[in-house]
Order: sequence, then structure tokens, then C-alpha cells
Amino acid sequence: MKNLKGWSPVRASVAFFTLCLIHQVHQNKGIILLVQEPIINATVTQNVLLSVDYTSNGTPSIQWQYMSSWKSQCIIEWKVNSYVNISASYAGRVHKFENGSIQLQNVEVRDTGFYMITVSDDFGSTKQSTIILNVHEIRYEEFYFVAVFIAFLAAGSAVLVCLMWVCNKCINISQRRKQHRRAEEIELRIISA
Ligand SMILES: *[C@@H]1O[C@H](CO)[C@@H](O)[C@H](O)[C@H]1NC(C)=O
Ligand SMILES: *[C@@H]1O[C@H](CO)[C@@H](O)[C@H](O)[C@H]1NC(C)=O
Ligand SMILES: *[C@@H]1O[C@H](CO)[C@@H](O)[C@H](O)[C@H]1NC(C)=O
Repeated sequence: MKNLKGWSPVRASVAFFTLCLIHQVHQNKGIILLVQEPIINATVTQNVLLSVDYTSNGTPSIQWQYMSSWKSQCIIEWKVNSYVNISASYAGRVHKFENGSIQLQNVEVRDTGFYMITVSDDFGSTKQSTIILNVHEIRYEEFYFVAVFIAFLAAGSAVLVCLMWVCNKCINISQRRKQHRRAEEIELRIISA
């Protein structure tokens, strides 16, 4: 008896949570939308996967929109087994996947912004989510130019140092020759005197 009494609140709460879960799933009519990475960093010319996954009871339609501070536009819209509508400015550089993800090919800095996905089904329910994409310029090129510039400077100064060394040697040699000549002249004068 003691055992049963101890178990019954646990059972009751498990049953309650199960009911709640069933109720919630029923209320949402089953659209579940998952976003893998809500913020993506990319560099120019990369192919970027805006990765999502969804489950839905009906046949959903999926829409991706691009939004930035100065414009908002539809990228692609499709309904499973029905139609695909790709915006003219994205034709040829957007690729869709069965799980609702899209891939943007050859991204540019101006692709930076918000990407909003809307999944809606025949029962009138919708789910929305947003991915932020940051597209950066390629940085290592700048470092490359700086490195080359420094290498040129180093090479230039090495050449200068060599030149100075050679000049120094030349001056030394000519000075020695002059001294030698003077010494000879003095010797000659002494002899002639
Ligand atoms: C993206 O870049 C920002 C800085 O520009 C950084 O704070 C953030 O951690 C990066 N996120 C990822 C996922 O690399
Ligand atoms: C969606 O599908 C693509 C292609 O099959 C895959 O690369 C990606 O990881 C999937 N996304 C998720 C969140 O499962
Ligand atoms: C496709 O997009 C165009 C322009 O946005 C729109 O006029 C047309 O109705 C769309 N077609 C479908 C089937 O949604």
C-alpha cells in the first residue's frame, strides 16, 4: 500500500505531462521547425547552406525571404510536390533541399542580412524562423600584400647595406692606395735629397 501511494503522484504527473504534450502537438498541427545555426559567418565566393529541418502533417509550403536594413525580398517559395517559384535575382544561385534548407552559391558581401523561413500547411498554421548571415571580405589577401610589402622593404634595405659595405671597401682601398703613393713620394724625396 505504501509503495502504491508513493508511485501514484509520479504516475499522475507523467500522465499529465503526456496529455500536455499531445495537446500541444495537436494545437500546433505538427509543424516543428528546427534551425541548426542561427548565425552564420562566411567569406565571399563561399557556398552557404542555410540549414533547417521541419516536420509537418500536411503538405507544407516553404518560403525564404531576404531582409536587410534597405530591402526585403522573396528568394524562393515552394510547395512540396506542387510548385517552385524562384525570384529572378536568385535564379541559378539558390538550391533547395527536401528538409527546407537552401544553399546560396557564390555569396557576396551584399548577401549579408536576415533570412526568414516561413513554413505553412493546409490547416492554416505557420512557423517562422530567422538565420543571420554575415559575409566578410577575404582577409588573408590583405595580410599577403602586407607580407610582400615588408619582404620588399627588407630586400631593399639588405641591398642598401651591401652597397654601403662595398662603398666603404672602395673608399678604404683608395685611401690606402693614396697613403701608399704618398709614402712612396716621401721615400723618393728623401732619397733624392
Ligand atoms: C561570427 O563572427 C562574429 C564576429 O564578427 C563572432 O563574434 C562570432 O562568434 C562568429 N560566429 C561564428 C559561428 O563563427
Ligand atoms: C538538410 O539537408 C541538407 C542536405 O541533405 C543537409 O546538408 C543538412 O544538414 C540538413 N539540415 C538539417 C538541419 O538536418
Ligand atoms: C511566383 O512569383 C511571382 C512573382 O513573385 C508571382 O507573381 C507568382 O504568382 C508566383 N507563382 C506562384 C505559383 O506562387
